[in-house]
Amino acid sequence: MIVLVDLLLMLVDVTISILSAIVQTVIRPRLKCIDGELCLITGAGGALGRLFALEFAKEGAHLVLWDCNADANEHTAKLARELGVKVHTYTVDLARRQNIYETAELVRREVGDVTMVVNNAGVVAGRRLLDCPDELLERTLLVNCHALFWMTKAFLPQMKAKNHGHMVTIASVLGLFSTACVEDYCASKFGAVGFHESLTHGLQAEGLDGIKTTLVCPYIVDTGMFAGCEIRKELQGLIPPLDPLYTVQQSMNAILGEQHMICIPRLMYIPFVSRALLPWEANMATYRFMGGDKCMMPFIKNMEQRTANGHAKTS
Ligand SMILES: NC(=O)c1ccc[n+]([C@@H]2O[C@H](COP(=O)([O-])OP(=O)(O)OC[C@H]3O[C@@H](n4cnc5c(N)ncnc54)[C@H](O)[C@@H]3O)[C@@H](O)[C@H]2O)c1
Repeated sequence: MIVLVDLLLMLVDVTISILSAIVQTVIRPRLKCIDGELCLITGAGGALGRLFALEFAKEGAHLVLWDCNADANEHTAKLARELGVKVHTYTVDLARRQNIYETAELVRREVGDVTMVVNNAGVVAGRRLLDCPDELLERTLLVNCHALFWMTKAFLPQMKAKNHGHMVTIASVLGLFSTACVEDYCASKFGAVGFHESLTHGLQAEGLDGIKTTLVCPYIVDTGMFAGCEIRKELQGLIPPLDPLYTVQQSMNAILGEQHMICIPRLMYIPFVSRALLPWEANMATYRFMGGDKCMMPFIKNMEQRTANGHAKTS
C-alpha cells in the first residue's frame, strides 16, 4: 500500500517537474542575487573564463580568478576591477593536485570562503590518439576531470558548513555524446558530467538544499579551441559555432536561475536523447548525414599543421 502511495507521489513529482521545465522555457525564472558572493573561476584568462568573470562582476560578485597563464588572468582581473568588484588572481596549474590544494588554502587565508565555484578551465590534445604523446592525453583528463574532484574537496566543506554555495561545471555536449578524434576530450567531459551528476545526487541525499549545482554543456563555441571543426556545409548555417558572449549569457541565466543543467543551444538535447533511445546504427546514419562523424578531422589537421609550424595551442 505504501509503495502505491509513493508511486503516486513520484508520478505527481515527475509531472510537476516536466510542467515547470516547460513553463520555464517560456517564462524566465526569477534570477538569484549574487551581490557580495565570492566566486572562483578557473581558466579565467581564457575566452569563456574572461566573459564569465565579467558577467559575475556585473552581478556584483567578488572574484577569485585562477589560471596557469598569469598574464591573461591579470588582464581579466583588470577588466573586472573596472566594474567595481574586488578581484584576486592566482597562478595555478590545475593538472597538479597539490597545487590546487595549496592555492585553495591560500585563498581561504587571504580572501575568505568561496561561495561559488565555476570549473571552467579546459584543454584538448587535438591530435590523433595513436600519434599523441601520452602526457597530452593525461593532461586533458587531469585538467578537465580530475581537477573537479580536488576543487570540490577543497571548497565544498566551507559551503556545507553554511549550507550555502553553488558548484558550476562547464562541460560540453561532448560529455553527452561523442565524435571521432577527440577521445581524450570526450572521456574527460563524460567524466566531468558523471562527476557533476553524482555530486548533485549526494548533496540532495544529504538534504543540503542551500548548495546548488549547474551543469553547462555547450556545442562548439567560436573561441578557437576547436578551430577548423565543421559539420556538413549545407547545415553549417543551421548550427553555427556559438558566439562566446551568447554562450556565457545563456549559462549565466541557468546559473542564476539555479537550473540543474543546460545544453546550448537547446537543439543539442536531440542528439543527447537520441543517443540513448536509438540503435547505434541509426545514430551513425544521422551523424553521417550531418557530417558529425568527421567534423573534428579538419580541426585535427589544423592542429597538426600548427604543431609542424611550432605554435600549437593545446589549451
Ligand atoms: N570552445 C569550445 O568550443 C567549447 C565548447 C564546449 C565546452 N567548452 C569548454 O569551455 C571551457 C572554456 O573553454 P574556452 O573555449 O574558453 O577555452 P580557452 O582555451 O580559451 O580557455 C581555457 C583556459 O584554461 C586555462 N588552462 C588550461 N590548462 C590549465 C591548467 N592546467 N591550469 C590552469 N588553467 C588552465 C588556459 O590558460 C585558458 O586560459 C573549457 O572547459 C572547454 O572545454 C568549450
